Amino acid sequence: MIKTGDSVSYVVPCLFGLEGLVADECKRINMQNVRAEDGRVLFSGSLADCAKANLALRCGERVLILVGSFEAESFDALFEGVRRLNWEDWLPKDAAFPVTGYSLDSALFSVPDCQRIIKKAVAERMKTRYRLEVFPETGAAYKIRFAIRKNQVSLMLDSSGTALHKRGYRPAHTEAALRETLAAAMVKLARYRGKGDFCDPFCGSGTIAIEAALAALNRAPGLNRSFAAEKWRYFDPQIWQDAREEARAAEYRGEYRIFASDIDPEAVRIARENAERAGVTEYIDFSVADATAFTRETERGVIVTNPPYGERLLDLQQAEEIYRRFGKALAGKGGWSVYLLSSDPEFERCFGRIADKKRKLYNGMIKCDLYMYFK
Ligand SMILES: C[S@@+](CC[C@H](N)C(=O)[O-])C[C@H]1O[C@@H](n2cnc3c(N)ncnc32)[C@H](O)[C@@H]1O
Repeated sequence: MIKTGDSVSYVVPCLFGLEGLVADECKRINMQNVRAEDGRVLFSGSLADCAKANLALRCGERVLILVGSFEAESFDALFEGVRRLNWEDWLPKDAAFPVTGYSLDSALFSVPDCQRIIKKAVAERMKTRYRLEVFPETGAAYKIRFAIRKNQVSLMLDSSGTALHKRGYRPAHTEAALRETLAAAMVKLARYRGKGDFCDPFCGSGTIAIEAALAALNRAPGLNRSFAAEKWRYFDPQIWQDAREEARAAEYRGEYRIFASDIDPEAVRIARENAERAGVTEYIDFSVADATAFTRETERGVIVTNPPYGERLLDLQQAEEIYRRFGKALAGKGGWSVYLLSSDPEFERCFGRIADKKRKLYNGMIKCDLYMYFK
């Protein structure tokens, strides 16, 4: 079995477009050999680093342990490749080991077949090592994830369990809520670190404002939840306790000026509840307000926001009218920088200004641009 001091390879999958940000986060928490690839970031570290990364990463989706990788273009090669890996180092006799994954641009494209073969190959390997014919799978879950890209197979163990974007503060959400990892990325791209005014005038369930508060406080986003690997045999519970204590000790204290508003009183009520659960209510000033009549007494600050999308034609016309009126309300407020996420290719025309910079991001399956106006 793997031991506390051993060096382990990790993979952090993330939304497309966020690789650079996730790599920066990994470097900031002192992970080794950090490397960004399409849709994921790799690094190496100890088991203690696994706990640290799970608690600290704001923009990554999961922390996976890389058990091995190899090339495979046939089911036989897949079976052999999986069987050769030292699963007995990672899975105890009673482990429950469900298998999930995906395949992209590869000869092996049937995910259910790959799933079945990987499961069989892991069991085969364990049979010879543990001298068992049948595995009860009655113990903790050691979820196996596979990724096949261009015939290159990666086999991983999911140390996070529930995805990291589920921080535990948003059981209630309004429709079209932004994924927490994407909201955190927008806050990072806007370079908000607790200084000056921060505002989300289309706050919905409050995700962006809550992520801004967590970032300003330097609060680890995973502090209010648990992780699958906490139940794994080779993780000394002390590792998790130390990581949590270290994270708490690194928090800042300050007075922040974070404003969140929405035209819908129900959304504001839900946002307040979410902020309460996240423990950041005292840092966010919530109100019901129409963003197209945007006013603030301060002359400068940063707006990070995600106005309504128009999924259907009628909604699109309404959304574009909101962009137009919001653009007019901001005209002459040159002290405010704006970071706005929209999937509408006509956004700039409606808003009335060409962005200083654009960045492609994905909100789930929806391709969006983050329109950045630096002032
Ligand atoms: C895409 S949602 C925002 C989702 C949010 N980022 C979240 O994570 O929950 C857009 C929000 O804009 C609000 N909205 C629509 N028109 C508005 C207006 N004129 N002023 C303020 N808010 C408005 C809607 O009520 C909705 O909550």
